[in-house]
Amino acid sequence: MIKPEAMAAGHAGKILDLILSKGFKLVALKYTRLSEGEAGQFYEVHKERPFYGELVNYMASGPILAAILEKDDAVQDFRALIGATDPAEAAEGTIRKRFAESKAKNAVHGSDSDANAAIEGAFFFSTREQY
Ligand code: CMP
Repeated sequence: MIKPEAMAAGHAGKILDLILSKGFKLVALKYTRLSEGEAGQFYEVHKERPFYGELVNYMASGPILAAILEKDDAVQDFRALIGATDPAEAAEGTIRKRFAESKAKNAVHGSDSDANAAIEGAFFFSTREQY
């Protein structure tokens, strides 16, 4: 996902270009906006965390770009490309170092496992939207 603050700042094209230039193939892509209910469901795993309310509110605050990406070792390589959750700790050249505003408004989300990637992909896309 490209998150609301990165979309509002006009970074979507540059972020997508960077992702594709690193060998990720697009399987699905959608410009959409999450309701608070949908954002809460997407991040349900973080329900008990102190930042959950802020996270849900923020993720529903504006349009996002959702994508399914394919590559060998996609989860690991994408997490390396996006960098640490907190942009202050993200390595040079990573997406979060370049484009994130803060730990909460951190520009992009990447799945943390193949199993979660399948769940999160199905959250946004029907099989007819995946190629
Ligand atoms: P993401 O990779 O989408 O997964 C969970 C998100 O919760 C994370 O990126 C951040 O946007 C957010 N998050 C994690 N830790 C904090 C925190 N300490 N304060 C606010 N938001 C956080």
